[in-house]
Amino acid sequence: MSSKLSAVKGMNDLLPEQAELWELVEAKVSEVFRQYGYRPIRTPIVETTPVFVRAIGEVTDIVEKEMYSFNDALNGEALTLRPENTAAVVRAAIEHNLLYDGPRRLWYFGPMFRHERPQKGRYRQFHQFGVEAFGMAGPDIDAEVIQIGALLWQELGLTPFITLQINNIGSAADRQGYAKALTAFLEQHVDQLDTDARNRMHSNPMRVLDSKNPEMQALLASAPLLTDFVSDESKAHYAALQALLAAAGIAFEENPRLVRGLDYYNNCVFEWVTQELGAQGTVCGGGRYDGLVEQLGGKPTLAAGFAMGIERLVLMLESLSLIPASALQVVDIYVLVVGEGVVAEGLALARSLRTAFPDLGIIGHCGGGKYNSQLKRAYASGARLAVILEQDADTSATPNTVKLRRLDDSGQSETTDIDSVVAKVGEFLSISA
Ligand code: HAM
Repeated sequence: MSSKLSAVKGMNDLLPEQAELWELVEAKVSEVFRQYGYRPIRTPIVETTPVFVRAIGEVTDIVEKEMYSFNDALNGEALTLRPENTAAVVRAAIEHNLLYDGPRRLWYFGPMFRHERPQKGRYRQFHQFGVEAFGMAGPDIDAEVIQIGALLWQELGLTPFITLQINNIGSAADRQGYAKALTAFLEQHVDQLDTDARNRMHSNPMRVLDSKNPEMQALLASAPLLTDFVSDESKAHYAALQALLAAAGIAFEENPRLVRGLDYYNNCVFEWVTQELGAQGTVCGGGRYDGLVEQLGGKPTLAAGFAMGIERLVLMLESLSLIPASALQVVDIYVLVVGEGVVAEGLALARSLRTAFPDLGIIGHCGGGKYNSQLKRAYASGARLAVILEQDADTSATPNTVKLRRLDDSGQSETTDIDSVVAKVGEFLSISA
């Protein structure tokens, strides 16, 4: 026997029950995006590697350790499976001139790839919903993207379990001043630094702050705070955002250590976090990235956005038992097709029922078999009603009647003329066609 094949580690199959829950979440999220006037954009899952290196930053966990990069076997081009989508959306927006005729509000959904150590809530293929808003200075647009998140948690029943953390990381110039102070601090403690921190303390000291090493985090507790290096202009923007959030009734916590793991941010950054998921508690992250469009070759364009991981949202819904009953697809009617001579009629009957009752789930039996074995399948499907088309065993004639049978304890059944089957089904299920 040949050996069993399995999925790539950290990349998950979604079996029907989970996939149905995902569809429900996807429908809710995309509906909210649409309500806010955001339009969909779909970009390839593979980009040339510089798109991500230039956007996310050379000295970051994602670029240094987590990207699935390879050379195109034909032309040697360096390619990368997207680890996030802000860079790719900016690349596409520049390439197709989307940014020169006023503000743009875009959203996306799709798989992202990071070569991280898999654990609950952290995968190598995961899926993000994201919004990117271009051409607006804020803080109104910053408040809008945060409000979108708040509305989503409300729609999903997650509001009590998710907290908003915000921080102001200042302008690129502010951060240069901070980087110097941070490097000086790290130099003073060089003996206590791990290899990563030593490697980064000169090239990108901000990214030392992302360290997952508890010893580094303990040391960093006494490091200088970025907040103390932020310019007045940036502070005014941040204060105005806080006022807008308060006016919108959105509670937030300030977290001066929140710096995000990607280099493109400036001014306001935020994360929505939960206690429900253990170590992987960030369900959504974002902020302003006013320099990125120019950095990737476009005209200077202000920007803000966020992305959230749908796996983490679904884990929360599952662990809090908040899965709506409507998430699971139901079968309402099972059409039995008994006799080889009525297969075509059976297909037509099921089709006409679907046309008459577009909101119902209707399975037409396939594969033949005796009445009893088909009835068993009907019960197993969870359908409420069986519609039975049976060829006359003696004459082999096509019947002009069908039988309806309730698949409940009553077992109530009735034979009806095939032309009145729609009305009769409606009566049985107390719905009108
Ligand atoms: P990020 O913080 O790297 O930001 O990712 C956003 C969200 O994606 C996280 O909060 C988390 O829910 C989910 N996520 C990230 N990595 C994984 C993983 N390995 N497994 C499962 N879920 C994961 C960004 O990607 C930015 N592009 C967000 C953004 C958009 N900023 C501005 N616009």
